[in-house]
Amino acid sequence: MKASVTAHRDYRIATIDDRLYGAFLEHLGRAVYTGVYEPDHPTADANGMRRDVIDLVKELNVPIVRYPGGNFVSAYNWEDGVGPRDKRPTRLDLAWHTSESNAVGVHEFAGWCEAAGAQMMLAINLGSRGLDEARNFVEYVNGPAGSYWGDLRKANGRAEPFGVRHWCLGNEMDGPWQVGHKTPHEYGRLANEVAKTLRAFDKSLELIVCGSSNSDMATYPEWERVVLENCYDAVDHISLHMYFNNKAKNTAEYLALGEKLDAYIGTIASTIDFVRAVKRSRRKVTISFDEWNVWYHSMTQDREMLAGEKGWPHAPALLEDIYNFEDVLQVGCILNTFIRRSDVVRIACIAQLVNVIAPIMTEPGGAAWRQTIFYPYYFASRFGRGDSLKLSVTSPGYDSQVADNVPYLDVSAVHDEAGGTLTFFAVNRHGRETLDLDVSLQGFGPARVGDHQVMTSARLEDVNTLANPKAVTPKPGSGAKVADDVLSARLAPYSYQMIRLKLGGA
Ligand code: AHR
Repeated sequence: MKASVTAHRDYRIATIDDRLYGAFLEHLGRAVYTGVYEPDHPTADANGMRRDVIDLVKELNVPIVRYPGGNFVSAYNWEDGVGPRDKRPTRLDLAWHTSESNAVGVHEFAGWCEAAGAQMMLAINLGSRGLDEARNFVEYVNGPAGSYWGDLRKANGRAEPFGVRHWCLGNEMDGPWQVGHKTPHEYGRLANEVAKTLRAFDKSLELIVCGSSNSDMATYPEWERVVLENCYDAVDHISLHMYFNNKAKNTAEYLALGEKLDAYIGTIASTIDFVRAVKRSRRKVTISFDEWNVWYHSMTQDREMLAGEKGWPHAPALLEDIYNFEDVLQVGCILNTFIRRSDVVRIACIAQLVNVIAPIMTEPGGAAWRQTIFYPYYFASRFGRGDSLKLSVTSPGYDSQVADNVPYLDVSAVHDEAGGTLTFFAVNRHGRETLDLDVSLQGFGPARVGDHQVMTSARLEDVNTLANPKAVTPKPGSGAKVADDVLSARLAPYSYQMIRLKLGGA
């Protein structure tokens, strides 16, 4: 099978926003407790945070982390998580049917983000609560000392404001499962009032309003139209979520879901443009795709717990999907889609980061290890910074329920002019045939292959585990070369590839 691509240095889509490689950490299962926070762990720092996990987060170069939920936030009282630990209440978490000790709150999360080199993106409870708590929370986090909330923060050990810029106005408010679920009219009005109030506090905040929980929601995409018509000029981003699954055990259909993701982004980009035109607004709202990942492997085992049949345990194992090699291909395609749509997707967060549908797993008291999907996320986050390029792609394809003519070659390219590199991320969606790839390189000058990493595996079901954490890892590729301004490479069946060209004579 052959595929050909043309890459021209002037055919830019956008400069990729670093926040495209963000992540999400919720008070859910073992994400926080025994995930990032485990005071008795041998690697714990003075704040009780696992250094082995921080090291892996740093390896992923995560720029921003959304916290504390998720569904959790819609019945969360942020005040429970501040002040002396021994006075913090244990609450029942209604979203996940567990107990929340509140040993970790906004101060501890801020310290962890600082250690991990990431910005904070905080979500506000607009489910069980409303405007007053929102403004108090923002004032507590960002207000100066000398005010009631600023002084309380100071008394709790932090004199300087945290200076958090990104605020999510609730979570999945379109979802009937959400505590405080609303109609788009109710939510749009509330979001506008909250945004207006927070802007009175600080005009420079970046505010993220809830879009659809997924594109199968009955209210999609009317939800986005109505919500944005209520608050367009007060917000900066609209949040979208999507989880991918292969419950049907149909790899071709599974790997075609990137097309569904692309259509979802395209539809909401058009809805934004529509509302912008209705409003005669100069403002350009963009997309924060702040929950995305594969999620289905753990659903059967979680059923009883989520139905409340196991009481209210603290930090039980929940949503602990063990990812396989097939998921590497999916995550590669998802990230390629975000790179190709970086004109409108400015923020994206893998959901989640540790233990809960996560690239990083931990053993209480033991090791932290990398899931299979750690690697495509690692490559994109490390090397996918710069300008995304509009490629011309000719590839054979296949018809699926999601879309016709899904190309076997899924590819994106990022040009880092300052760093002198051009990086291709490619997935061969064909399970039996090798793809012979030719990329015509136009306007880049001399180029050579600087790095080529490949992920393949004997079986799509292959996984990494605590006992065997290196079963599925990238290996150096061979045979990719540049001659006469053409990059040629052979992409093995069902493979993920990162090919990084060094530009210039050096
Ligand atoms: O990430 C798990 C859950 O998925 C989040 O809490 C919620 O926002 C979404 O439905």
